[in-house]
Amino acid sequence: MKGILLAGGSGTRLHPMTLATSKQLLPVYDKPMIYYPLSTLMLAGIRDIMIISTPDDLPQFQRLLGDGTQYGVRFSYRVQPSPDGIAQAFLIAEDWLAGAPCALALGDNLIFADHLSVLLQGAARRDSGATVFAYQVRDPERYGVVTFDAEGRASTLVEKPAHPVSHWAVTGLYFYDARVSTFARQIRPSPRGELEITDLNRIYLEEGSLQVEKLGRGCAWLDAGVPDALLQAGMFVQTIQSRQGMLVGSPAEVAFRMGFIDAEQLREIARTVHKTELGRLLRNMADGEAGR
Ligand code: TTP
Repeated sequence: MKGILLAGGSGTRLHPMTLATSKQLLPVYDKPMIYYPLSTLMLAGIRDIMIISTPDDLPQFQRLLGDGTQYGVRFSYRVQPSPDGIAQAFLIAEDWLAGAPCALALGDNLIFADHLSVLLQGAARRDSGATVFAYQVRDPERYGVVTFDAEGRASTLVEKPAHPVSHWAVTGLYFYDARVSTFARQIRPSPRGELEITDLNRIYLEEGSLQVEKLGRGCAWLDAGVPDALLQAGMFVQTIQSRQGMLVGSPAEVAFRMGFIDAEQLREIARTVHKTELGRLLRNMADGEAGR
């Protein structure tokens, strides 16, 4: 399975912070925002990842992430000329995907959960249909909203409903089978002019192959697209890291735990951030103190 990290968009709800830089490069406590969804994709076992961003911002992502060798993965880069919708990612990446199944992670979405890797690797292993995750929120009108029937199966999907009939929002992490680009070609722009990811998900829903996994109370899903959420995400990461001495959203740690890199390669990454607490934690991990 391949992965796409979508890190374009206009970030208008974070102006003026995003007037001169990309939203997904803003800090969430001690790391750039994109590290978090990148870690999620890597935790799913995905090693072939395309980063899609705006013509202005893409070079900054290349500077930050390089070709992926340091993490034992491969990064490819491609421009989205204008923010014409999330589902456009599958048209932009179609030749690169070459019929492979694909996971898509939005660059401003952070998911934390116990046993997340089990959940993710389970979704990555399904070879037909699509898997998305639903999370209960107070403000469902900002998201794609899913309803469930009496058996707990997804029954409807609506993008940003004015009057939501459920509090279950679809999170920014999606797993699709090999047909995803073909289905994305069938979508037409919505009234706001975007190729909507909800329309893509609805194609799978209507053929009965959309699996919607509920994320429960013990999970946190944060969308750092507005100032309050950005601050909350940072405080959340700071609270866990300082209390437990464990990292959240570190691609270096994930690469090491997944066996993509060895202890010496992890030490090498730690050296690049040696003046920081992050560097100290990575070094300890490489030395085996933090316990594998
Ligand atoms: P949004 O938060 O819906 O849009 P945005 O990032 O442009 O922000 P704003 O509403 O404040 O103007 O986008 C969700 C994620 O998807 C975010 O990581 C940006 C990304 N995205 C793209 O990369 N390309 C697109 O065409 C769209 C619509 C979103």
